[in-house]
Amino acid sequence: MTTNIKPKTVFTGDNLPIMRGINSESVDLIYLDPPFNSKTNYAAPIGSAAAGAEFKDTWTLSDVDNAWLDLIETKYPALNRVIHAAMTNSDKSYLIYMAVRLLEMHRILKDTGAIYLHCDTTMSHYLKLVMDAVFGKGNFRNEVIWHYYNVASTSRKFIGRKHDTIFFYAKSDATSFNWDSMREPYSSDSNWVKASGSYGDARYSPNEKGKLMHDVWRIPTINNMAKERTGYPTQKPLTLLAHIIKASSNEGDVVLDPFCGCATTCVAADRLQRDWIGIDISEKAAELVVERIKTDQGLFQEIIARTDIPKRTDLGDIPRYNAPENKTQLYGEQSGDCNGCGTHFQKQHLEVDHIIAKEVGGTDHIKNLQLLCSNCNRIKGERGQEYLISRLNKIEI
Ligand SMILES: C[S@@+](CC[C@H](N)C(=O)[O-])C[C@H]1O[C@@H](n2cnc3c(N)ncnc32)[C@H](O)[C@@H]1O
Repeated sequence: MTTNIKPKTVFTGDNLPIMRGINSESVDLIYLDPPFNSKTNYAAPIGSAAAGAEFKDTWTLSDVDNAWLDLIETKYPALNRVIHAAMTNSDKSYLIYMAVRLLEMHRILKDTGAIYLHCDTTMSHYLKLVMDAVFGKGNFRNEVIWHYYNVASTSRKFIGRKHDTIFFYAKSDATSFNWDSMREPYSSDSNWVKASGSYGDARYSPNEKGKLMHDVWRIPTINNMAKERTGYPTQKPLTLLAHIIKASSNEGDVVLDPFCGCATTCVAADRLQRDWIGIDISEKAAELVVERIKTDQGLFQEIIARTDIPKRTDLGDIPRYNAPENKTQLYGEQSGDCNGCGTHFQKQHLEVDHIIAKEVGGTDHIKNLQLLCSNCNRIKGERGQEYLISRLNKIEI
């Protein structure tokens, strides 16, 4: 499937409706570094290139659009069970927020593609379950530990926390991995290693490409004097992204970062001759993407900055939302029950309705459709599913 987004595009906006506008199976690699549910609100220091950038990382049920919950409850029972394993409403809200986005990422990733989800111990144990439910447990490849050894630890209550976790999943068995690219320089304290991976015998001379890496990556965080530092809160090192991009994509492939911040993924992808798409909700982020790429690669780089929701071009032949075949399929999936009040009806008394409204990127695809009885459909009217659910008191907000 070809992409409907031009290379080197940065979108400003919520990544959910924007991803809903990207063609299915059109992206080769996704790296995401979302908010971690850290209960912290981040702001860049005044005077830095990123000054003005900020984002919140605290979560309550009021952040949850009930339409998301409804989509998960109706269409993804395994995912629904995982989300309900969360211990607090804040954790649950965060997981619902992440789950709807990961479902879109699964849809837009090619069958040969790979996804890397960056998180930390705050939510990593829940996020792995969510990833298993969305991408399939069998597609899990690695839990990469990014060990940022250069950060001082101040706590006297626990062992110094100096790592983030990156979950690597393949989309399918067709996903390949450039294992030979995973190399780092030999350091004075390391044993020499051959490309075959054998250790500790000095009869071998070191491979000139470097030492094969394992799943613990020792990469320092960006220090105050580093050239690549923008001051953007939570900026990640370019080396980290270069490893991921080299391992799981090839020149000309499409790399997407739906939480791109100050463009670390975009800059690394650009340097490695990959096409890239960045999305961030912060206006400052888009400014930094353009500025950083132009400084890095030259003023004549053509970067497209967009704020609209793209239109999919791969939906050509799907039936109209209220086509009889959709109704028959949905009647079977819902066992003849209305998706609002839950009452059982004969097919002719149920009406096909969009779960996610078309204005916010919802499509006529069967995954975005439900059957409602005429009473529930009338209550809902042109409003979103959240209005209907709150009227029916299905969830407290
Ligand atoms: C942890 S930071 C990413 C940092 C990035 N990896 C870098 O190196 O600069 C998370 C980013 O997610 C963005 N964000 C939060 N919610 C978002 C949403 N719904 N859609 C798009 N971006 C979002 C924030 O503005 C923030 O820039």
